[in-house]
Amino acid sequence: MKNLDSKSHVRGESIYLDDIPLIQGTLYACVFDSAVAHGTLRSINTADAEKSEGVMRVVTAKDLIGENQIGGVVPDEPLLADGEVHFQGMPIAIVLAESEELARKAVRKITADIEPLEPVTDPRVAAANGDLIVPPKKFIMGDCEEAFANCEHVFSGRTEQNGQEHLYIETQGAYAIPIENSGLKVYSSTQGPTAVQRAVCRVTGLPMHQVEVDVQRLGGGFGGKEDQANAWASICAVGAQLTKRPVKYALHRMEDMRMTGKRHPYSSDYKIGLNKDLKIIAYEVTFYQNAGASADLSPPVLERTLFHATNSYFIPNVTATAYSCRTNLPPNTAFRGFGGPQGMFVIEAAIVHAAEKLGVSAADIQRNNLIDDGDEFPYGQKAESDAITSWTQGDAEFNFAHLQKEADGFNDESKYFKKGVAMMPVCFGISFTKTPMNQARSLVHVYTDGSVAVSTGAVEMGQGVNTKIAQVAAKVFGLPIDKIKIHTTNTLRIANTSPTAASAAADLNGKATQMACETIRDRLFEVAKGLVEAEAVENLSLEDGHVYRNGDRTSLDWKSLVMDAHLQRVNLSEHAHYATPGINFDWTTAKGHPFAYHVYGTAIVGVTVDCLRGRYEVDYVKCCHDFGSSMNTSVDNGQIEGGIVQGLGWMTMEEVVYDDAGKLRSNALSTYKVPDIHSVPKEIAILPLQTNRENLAVLNSKAVGEPPLMYGMGAYFAIRNAIKAFTECSPEFDAPFTPEKVLMNLYSE
Ligand code: MTE
Ligand code: HPA
Ligand code: MOS
Repeated sequence: MKNLDSKSHVRGESIYLDDIPLIQGTLYACVFDSAVAHGTLRSINTADAEKSEGVMRVVTAKDLIGENQIGGVVPDEPLLADGEVHFQGMPIAIVLAESEELARKAVRKITADIEPLEPVTDPRVAAANGDLIVPPKKFIMGDCEEAFANCEHVFSGRTEQNGQEHLYIETQGAYAIPIENSGLKVYSSTQGPTAVQRAVCRVTGLPMHQVEVDVQRLGGGFGGKEDQANAWASICAVGAQLTKRPVKYALHRMEDMRMTGKRHPYSSDYKIGLNKDLKIIAYEVTFYQNAGASADLSPPVLERTLFHATNSYFIPNVTATAYSCRTNLPPNTAFRGFGGPQGMFVIEAAIVHAAEKLGVSAADIQRNNLIDDGDEFPYGQKAESDAITSWTQGDAEFNFAHLQKEADGFNDESKYFKKGVAMMPVCFGISFTKTPMNQARSLVHVYTDGSVAVSTGAVEMGQGVNTKIAQVAAKVFGLPIDKIKIHTTNTLRIANTSPTAASAAADLNGKATQMACETIRDRLFEVAKGLVEAEAVENLSLEDGHVYRNGDRTSLDWKSLVMDAHLQRVNLSEHAHYATPGINFDWTTAKGHPFAYHVYGTAIVGVTVDCLRGRYEVDYVKCCHDFGSSMNTSVDNGQIEGGIVQGLGWMTMEEVVYDDAGKLRSNALSTYKVPDIHSVPKEIAILPLQTNRENLAVLNSKAVGEPPLMYGMGAYFAIRNAIKAFTECSPEFDAPFTPEKVLMNLYSE
């Protein structure tokens, strides 16, 4: 079944924040932001802006009625700079004007007197200065020191990974409308309506029941709107509170790129030890996360880096240490994979390093160390592993050895084009690593005409979660999908939501929806039992809009049943709550069972490098992927294809560039290159993993949102192999592999 939004998307009828019909009297916000990455804010001159045409008011930190604070995890993030600036792009003042153009014009008339201080952009420098967001975190299993002493082979090195711009097609934005008795209704392009509600309440001083947040859908979030939608909603809310008029702000692309954080760059040190049978015995890794100027989601992102530090491998002795380093960049934030990919890159690099030194294929080391059932992850959870099955099934279908041979044969013949192949196994834990976040609610109403309205805490951002939730309701009620309508995500209907993140939205909200629908269905069965003279409700079922008795269709249809139930005063609404069972994590011991389950998969990635120009093409990504029982293969295949291309982009052409002064140089689409249709792999093959395992997700499906991104990382190592087929060299592990870097390595000798 197609994504329910596909028709309205194609027709341009889908409603995004900027399409919401305007209310008379709406003011437009625009932010004046810091041009200096680090400095003392001596004064702000807003006099000219205030006199500028159409300006209603200019707001600075001193005008806030509530707290000047939006930090969710750590309270270290002022909404508006006060006394100091910490990054280029930090909001200092808000202009509220009669039109967008007039607001932008007035912003240009504001000046700030900032005395510059030395900016820090390198996480290792920040760590050396002791400037950490939170104390270091550590995972320990076994005894690395002793193990290294007994290893046949020990290799150590360093890796660098850059950030990634989210580039959601819809930029950040919000629209706040005053309602009676000082309340506010806020439309926001956010993955976390409750996060927005909390931030708005903090800066306005309002209690949460006075603030309604509503989300129709996002034109993409990719993690960038898990926490970072809060600022813009807060800005609009403050404006609406102070002027008693509706306030809207939809950021321009360059504002968005300059003022928001990105995927975290990491710099890391590794040491890997193997025995003579190529078993990895010990692994020591230290991560320096470039957090940016405030915490945002950096601490949980850092934690997930540790959780995925050993990717799909079982390593008996592990010491993994992680530092979240405060720098003068915009606060970096969630991005598909949430720190997991950064952890996996380092172990993959370490394996490649060992393989090259030992003269074996990296695939041999990878294959030899895949985690098996019952093996323990460094955080204490025992694996129910499909790492080996996904490798074996993928290899059986796609034949790595043959693809490698094909590439070798090509390379023997071709002087200036070289092919490279790499295996990329992935193991990704599903659940928010912070256990309390793994809960969701669903509100289901059956109306007397037989139509069904569902509200959940899930936010639709293109990933198809609404389609999946509608499928759940349709299945329980035995109805066609057009009888189900998924409504906006709204904090009045569904309170205290977790953000739509961690790939878990369909799992959590789908389960809650299933529970709510089943409760209503069971009440309807009690009514139907009398109407169709069934002996027991167990003999009844709902299919094709009819009641079935002992598998036979009765004349009682859904609509009549619903009306009858209503006339008998049976409750046709339900609000259900789901909390993932069996998960826990204890940071005092750094052990527990944080994940409901893991998603496993293995990809083979092939590339061709043009060794004269340094350009490359991805020939194929062939993966064996664990969907569980996919609820919707067209949505899930879309998630795989999109995730792979986003992962490829991060590892190859996308390059976030800040200069030493902390200014974003890749600040527009002309200087930040993302994959287009020409850079998509020529072939993406998807083989669903065959497994009979039960899992905790809805209708035995599995989460699919983030894991496929990490297949794209295989392209990095495939390019490296192609370069090595051209020239003897040992490129540094410094991602992304832009064509420039490829060229430099091709001719480094
Ligand atoms: N797919 C689309 N089209 N747009 C998005 O913004 N976000 C990704 C992924 N797939 C995203 C997407 C991220 S970061 C996550 S965590 C999941 O979707 C969240 O949705 P889910 O929990 O429903 O999978
Ligand atoms: N994943 C994604 N988002 C999150 C998580 C997580 O594990 N924890 C908090 N926010
Ligand atoms: Mo996704 S990074 O968990 O929003």
